[in-house]
Amino acid sequence: MATFLRSLHFLILLYVSNIPLAFAQDENQFIYNGFQQAKLQLDGIAVIHSNGLLQLTNLSYKQTGHAFYQFPLKFNTTSSTLTSSLSFSTNFVFAMVAEGNNPGGHGIAFTISPSRDFSRTQGSRFLGLFNSSTNGLSTNHILAIELDTVQNADLQDIEMNHVGVDVNGMISNESAAAMYFSNEEGKNIRLDLMSGNPMHLWIDYDEAEKLLNVTLAPTTIPKPDRPLLSTPIDLSEILLESMYVGFSSATGALASSHYILGWSFNKSGPSQSLDVSSLPPLPRQGKRAKPSPMIMTSVIAVALVLITVAGAAYILRRKKYEEIREDWEEEYGPHRFSYKNLHKATKGFKDTELLGEGGFGKVYRGILPSSNLQIAVKRVSHDSKQGMKEFVAEIVSMGRLRHRNLVQLLGYCRRRGELLLVYDYMPNGSLDKFLYSNEKPNLNWVQRFRIIKGVASGLLYLHEEWEQVVLHRDVKASNVLLDAELNGRLGDFGLARLYDHGTNPQTTHVVGTLGYLAPELTRTGRATTCSDVFAFGAFMLEVACGRRPIEVPALGLPERMILVDWVSECWRRRAILDASDPRLEGNYVVEEMVLVLKLGLFCSFAIPAARPSMKQVMQLLDGDADLPELPHDSVFGAFSSDESSAFKSFPFTLSSAPSMCSTDSILKSGR
Ligand SMILES: *[C@@H]1O[C@H](CO)[C@@H](O)[C@H](O)[C@H]1NC(C)=O
Ligand SMILES: *[C@@H]1O[C@H](CO)[C@@H](O)[C@H](O)[C@H]1NC(C)=O
Ligand SMILES: *[C@@H]1O[C@H](CO)[C@@H](O)[C@H](O)[C@H]1NC(C)=O
Ligand SMILES: *[C@@H]1O[C@H](CO)[C@@H](O)[C@H](O)[C@H]1NC(C)=O
Ligand SMILES: *[C@@H]1O[C@H](CO)[C@@H](O)[C@H](O)[C@H]1NC(C)=O
Ligand SMILES: *[C@@H]1O[C@H](CO)[C@@H](O)[C@H](O)[C@H]1NC(C)=O
Repeated sequence: MATFLRSLHFLILLYVSNIPLAFAQDENQFIYNGFQQAKLQLDGIAVIHSNGLLQLTNLSYKQTGHAFYQFPLKFNTTSSTLTSSLSFSTNFVFAMVAEGNNPGGHGIAFTISPSRDFSRTQGSRFLGLFNSSTNGLSTNHILAIELDTVQNADLQDIEMNHVGVDVNGMISNESAAAMYFSNEEGKNIRLDLMSGNPMHLWIDYDEAEKLLNVTLAPTTIPKPDRPLLSTPIDLSEILLESMYVGFSSATGALASSHYILGWSFNKSGPSQSLDVSSLPPLPRQGKRAKPSPMIMTSVIAVALVLITVAGAAYILRRKKYEEIREDWEEEYGPHRFSYKNLHKATKGFKDTELLGEGGFGKVYRGILPSSNLQIAVKRVSHDSKQGMKEFVAEIVSMGRLRHRNLVQLLGYCRRRGELLLVYDYMPNGSLDKFLYSNEKPNLNWVQRFRIIKGVASGLLYLHEEWEQVVLHRDVKASNVLLDAELNGRLGDFGLARLYDHGTNPQTTHVVGTLGYLAPELTRTGRATTCSDVFAFGAFMLEVACGRRPIEVPALGLPERMILVDWVSECWRRRAILDASDPRLEGNYVVEEMVLVLKLGLFCSFAIPAARPSMKQVMQLLDGDADLPELPHDSVFGAFSSDESSAFKSFPFTLSSAPSMCSTDSILKSGR
């Protein structure tokens, strides 16, 4: 019994004396190889496992986890002792583990903060340090070194796998792709933060140098000679006297488990590097299971072959359906289609499903597997990541545009280098096929006039009837689609803006199609409602005459034919009906034909302000207003050589307000 008690006593002693390997008396330095006895305050979903592993987040979405040293440290005091200077040195070993092949996110930030209360902060891209209103405020007094695995365009992230120095906000003062300097090879080698492997990070600040060094490495090598980041920074402007040090971590729409295996911190000198071999192990992951040596080699071989085949198939499959999805897209959830579904719907974007190919990309027919809904999927190639957020915001915003003469946009999907737009399927295809190819039946005048009126009303809606002004910028017969009842519906609206974003504002980028481009547009590159009206004029002439705005000369013919010039010539000859489509064989309402041809000319005035507005166009087509007189010597079109004579053109005066050119205001405040 006595022996038992003695050994029990001994055990208790052993247990009690096993406390801090840390420096109990000196709060300015500590080293934790595992966190069993660590003086940490945790919040959010952070936990310390029984083996000493600190887990900041798990696979739950939109969570945060914090772990901060319990006591505040003295940073910026006037007393000149070493420990209360601004210098500090720390190193820690971390790991970020995603599930299977999921991308994972968002990251971990080593943080120096005046407060340990992070209850009002947001996760995901703010990493549990700020919220959208506090991000960037100098009153935060926060220094963070972020290990970020998601690229957020609005935070100017350079790529998805990066390390950054953040002062008071998540827009990094300096950042670099995750890499380490190999002393042996004398060069930088990339590291994947989300690989699941433990990695070592050193952070050293020297008050005299005013230089913050951040050094990353795999745990298999000692501290590299060269830091990844060496950022000049004056912490006296940032840090307060009493500060907390620790880690903040977050998941968002993407989630992964973020671990800290050990942490060493020192304000009295360089922090001792952690002893990697004594750190707690990470939880075993299925994919890393070691095969038992007892298994026969043949079985291993067979298994390996199977795994390779299955793995390759799995990777190929993943690759096949891979898409890009960023955190900011969360709010567009319902508008987002999965690539897999679109792929299935279009039978793998098979050639037989190809509906057409336009300036912006190929269009495929599809049937959504879930709802049997017929869709059209447009694949727009787009290399630049820049401006994608604004563009998608606009696309989604345009998804709210609803008009019987617009092709309804249902949603989108993003992949590397391309954007997929999902529209209502229009069974009769585009109008130009009916006008110019023999494979489609000829349209009679009643049908044509209804299509013109329909498209006018769709364009009027974009210009004046929606909450904001939307320019189409590419009105033409091939962008007008016909539904089952042969109603004209305008497609592709706003797509032109894709080419605005991400391009240098200095370089004007004229979008549109030759023959429909207003003369001022080719000069200034600035699209307005008036340039849309010009294109609509060309479109009206196109439908009435059955000819393209510019006809490339057939072999043997001397000149290219410009439709506006030809119609105005017929007008000057007082034989405007000569311009009507011969395929109509004279079967049309003369007043309507004359109206469409003359209105087409009015819209083609070289001077933008002389053109009618879409509202006026609509009134005229509906017979609610009378067309003013059109002088026989007016100047029309984009190819007029005599610009000054254009001023002689008759100002368009109707009862309603004179026409004004508006520029696109979508997503900007109102009209
Ligand atoms: C993550 O941790 C929280 C808190 O410990 C827990 O409620 C949740 O179930 C965990 N999620 C997963 C996916 O393990
Ligand atoms: C952001 O944090 C500040 C300060 O903690 C708080 O006052 C504010 O309500 C928070 N805002 C949001 C949107 O959470
Ligand atoms: C960088 O750091 C300074 C303080 O040293 C701060 O004023 C500045 O706003 C920071 N942010 C960026 C994005 O440069
Ligand atoms: C930071 O790195 C630079 C360049 O390697 C070095 O000269 C400087 O001494 C380092 N400072 C600290 C505090 O480690
Ligand atoms: C830090 O100390 C310097 C020098 O004493 C002082 O000028 C500065 O205002 C202090 N910064 C803060 C945030 O208190
Ligand atoms: C802190 O620095 C002092 C002086 O270099 C050194 O003696 C001590 O071991 C260091 N402590 C830690 C935890 O790195």
